[in-house]
Amino acid sequence: MTKILIVDDEQLIRETLTMILIEKGYTVITAEDGTTGIETFQNERPDMVILDIRLPDMNGLDVLKQIKEQDRDISVIMITAYHDMETTIQAMRFQAYEYIHKPIDAYELEATVDRVAENLRADRRSKTIILPDNPPYKPDKIVGKSRAIQEIFKIIGLISENKAPVLIQGESGTGKELIAKAIHYNSVNRSEPFIPINCSAIVESLLESELFGHEKGAFTGATQRKIGKIEHAGNGTILLDEIGEISPAIQVKLLRFLQEKEFERVGGVERISSNVRVISATNKRLSELIQQDHFRKDLYYRLKVIEINVPPLRDRKEDIPLLLEHLINKINAELQKNVTRISNQVMDAILGYHWPGNIRELENMLTRAVVHSSGTVLQRDSFPDLFNLKNGSETPDKIISLTQLEKEHVIKALQHTNWNKGDACKLLGISRPTLRDKIKKYDLKKNNLPVCRPKASRLDVDPSAF
Ligand SMILES: Nc1ncnc2c1ncn2[C@@H]1O[C@H](COP(=O)(O)OP(=O)(O)OP(=O)(O)O)[C@@H](O)[C@H]1O
Ligand SMILES: [Mg+2]
Repeated sequence: MTKILIVDDEQLIRETLTMILIEKGYTVITAEDGTTGIETFQNERPDMVILDIRLPDMNGLDVLKQIKEQDRDISVIMITAYHDMETTIQAMRFQAYEYIHKPIDAYELEATVDRVAENLRADRRSKTIILPDNPPYKPDKIVGKSRAIQEIFKIIGLISENKAPVLIQGESGTGKELIAKAIHYNSVNRSEPFIPINCSAIVESLLESELFGHEKGAFTGATQRKIGKIEHAGNGTILLDEIGEISPAIQVKLLRFLQEKEFERVGGVERISSNVRVISATNKRLSELIQQDHFRKDLYYRLKVIEINVPPLRDRKEDIPLLLEHLINKINAELQKNVTRISNQVMDAILGYHWPGNIRELENMLTRAVVHSSGTVLQRDSFPDLFNLKNGSETPDKIISLTQLEKEHVIKALQHTNWNKGDACKLLGISRPTLRDKIKKYDLKKNNLPVCRPKASRLDVDPSAF
């Protein structure tokens, strides 16, 4: 029978989980702090552990680490009230099996426990885990509690000890470069260089030499040997940003390099081997470029051994409050400001906006707002773009529904043409039956239209009609 150890200081959680799991046929033992948890683990040798991150005597991550030192194949399900990147990455680095947030969803927990129990029957010896002994370098923080961002944290933790190529796809401003940095600075090779290169900013003829370097005399102007970025990156990471922009010729060279892990400088014959990790990023969909014959399929598969798709901000609005806090703190520090609050109206507008430029747009807008704010609160007047204050048109709270807009538009056309339905149809670009339907739908009658005629039509309208 599968034995589960629950380590949590909250009695209610221990009791509830015990009840749920016993009912499902599991054997359950509990511990209320880290030290007892580790002891119980040694003595009882459970098959899996459910472990709270925040414990009274020690950090759950340290408990995880110690438990893993005793049995590196043990499955540990971490429970936390926090959504921060570092704990998730650490937990995944220390090979936590899964990460569950409080408040605990009983179904999610049960499903996870069942999955572990199933895995227990599989071959445990196939896992090889090396526990790192020093904490990772602190990268620029990625914040977010959406499932998508949490999954990204997990991937960063999981790939920290290998060099598999990573392809990051996402709209502009979604944080692709930030994620690439986090991959590098959380990897075992974080002390090696991280070198980003924007493939679209360099002319094709120079890109090859930028990447692979060149020998003296390789081409006109090559007055001396140049070491390329791949060679510079050594054992570290190279980020090929805007990978969708590279020419077919460079695609071939890159493919060869990825296959052979060797290259030649332009104009050279020496084969140079490299152990660099290649991360590529793009805001285009490479699969579409392949269909249009602009990108090689074989290269695509080589690049996307690990694939990260960063969703646009509008699809993970639950990240916005954390991002606001994070970005405003960052901006305060940069601009020596002290903004601590944001008005409800601004918050609503931010949550309602679709953010085509994603987090970069949010950051830029907040920076402008903080620059323009004098006090500690960000008010509506600091967001002219969001509230469209500059040109004096509608604010989001005044925006009317499409139905209402359509009704008013049909009324305008009818008034303008003095109810000449043929002319109104031409103005509206619709057929007569459609206009008839709309007149019926909105219950429009010549004599009961509201008096909101456009100026131009006034003189055209027979006053007796009203
Ligand atoms: N999850 C996040 N947490 C904190 N900051 C973020 C997050 N995502 C993005 N940012 C910030 O937003 C800005 C844009 O991010 P980044 O440059 O990584 O985007 P990108 O996807 O590479 O954009 P582009 O395609 O335009 O190059 C940066 O200042 C970055 O720090
Ligand atoms: Mg970028």
